[in-house]
Amino acid sequence: FHLDIDPADTDKGTYPYYMLKEVDEQAVVARNLSAHYFDEEGNVQGIGCGITDSIKEADRLYIVAAGTSYHAGLVGKRYFEQWAGIPTEVHIASEFAYDQPMLSKKPFFIFLSQSGETADSREVLDNIKRQGFPALTIANVMNSTLTREADFALPVLAGPEIAVASTKAYTAQIIVQAILAYALGDVDLDLKAELAKVAVEISAITDDKDCFKKIADEDLKGQKSAFYIGRGLDAAVALEAALKLKEISYIQTEGFAAGELKHGTISLIEDGTPVFALLTQAKTAGLLRGEVAQVAARGANTIVISSKSLAKEGDAYVLPEVNELLMPLLAVIPAQLIAYYATLARGLDVDRPRNLAKSVTVQ
Ligand code: G6P
Repeated sequence: FHLDIDPADTDKGTYPYYMLKEVDEQAVVARNLSAHYFDEEGNVQGIGCGITDSIKEADRLYIVAAGTSYHAGLVGKRYFEQWAGIPTEVHIASEFAYDQPMLSKKPFFIFLSQSGETADSREVLDNIKRQGFPALTIANVMNSTLTREADFALPVLAGPEIAVASTKAYTAQIIVQAILAYALGDVDLDLKAELAKVAVEISAITDDKDCFKKIADEDLKGQKSAFYIGRGLDAAVALEAALKLKEISYIQTEGFAAGELKHGTISLIEDGTPVFALLTQAKTAGLLRGEVAQVAARGANTIVISSKSLAKEGDAYVLPEVNELLMPLLAVIPAQLIAYYATLARGLDVDRPRNLAKSVTVQ
């Protein structure tokens, strides 16, 4: 097994910013993960039966994470529930640490972390270990505190992520969760083949940089606030999309479940307010179209990012189509690039936003 991304390679190469390099690396990371976690026949390898046996004994999974990793967990929950059939909760580490919810009889914990050093997550791991519960850490930095101190660890294999805004660690964490859930379940799906398609389509989207630069330049110019909306998995991606945009461009951006608009937030919509809608889930596409129309009627500038089979004329960007549950891996890419170009246009340091650290080792 050979990693195309050299773990020692922390050079930007010809890229102006690490973030852009890391966004582009996502297709390679997807391929590397497939090569690592699948054999020739498409069977999962590299996940010891210690992990799968321990999870199979559990009656509920608790995913604990912070920031972007928490958002990756919101997507992963669907795989554990739909492919592995295990009820799954996703928790913010800093909340769980001091406000532990009532647990099931046989919980199993999954910690998601790029750095493996986030203090809030470490606090939860300490707490649950004291209570005698098993834990797996899925991390990009192996041999970190969270990987060493959990019972099990799986690598995310994204290579060094230097930009403060996490990109490839997010998609890689989603992929590892998908593979783990697939290994636990018995689904009629060739995940190796699906992930090969995902890698091809990620490249197709990252090749469309001009399109995202245009959206950033035209739709976010001079804007102080923006919204990302979606339903189901798109609501989960909307949170990450909003975080990307706000953390580096400083445009105040809210990401949320589109059905909640009418319960308050819609009053914030003014003439020209940019509202990005992520539309990749067939079941709720009609409802989401309705919500897009409602904000448009109140003056919003709606920017719809849809998947091919759900696209309509006037959509700002049409995503290629892969398995619907894997669409977050594609839907997040435009948001990463729109955030990147909006930040560049403001003359800000893309890789090092103010007040933020790559790894937060204090609570
Ligand atoms: C910091 C970073 C975020 C990251 C979060 C969790 O806030 O700026 O990008 O998502 O920590 O970090 P972790 O290393 O645990 O994924």
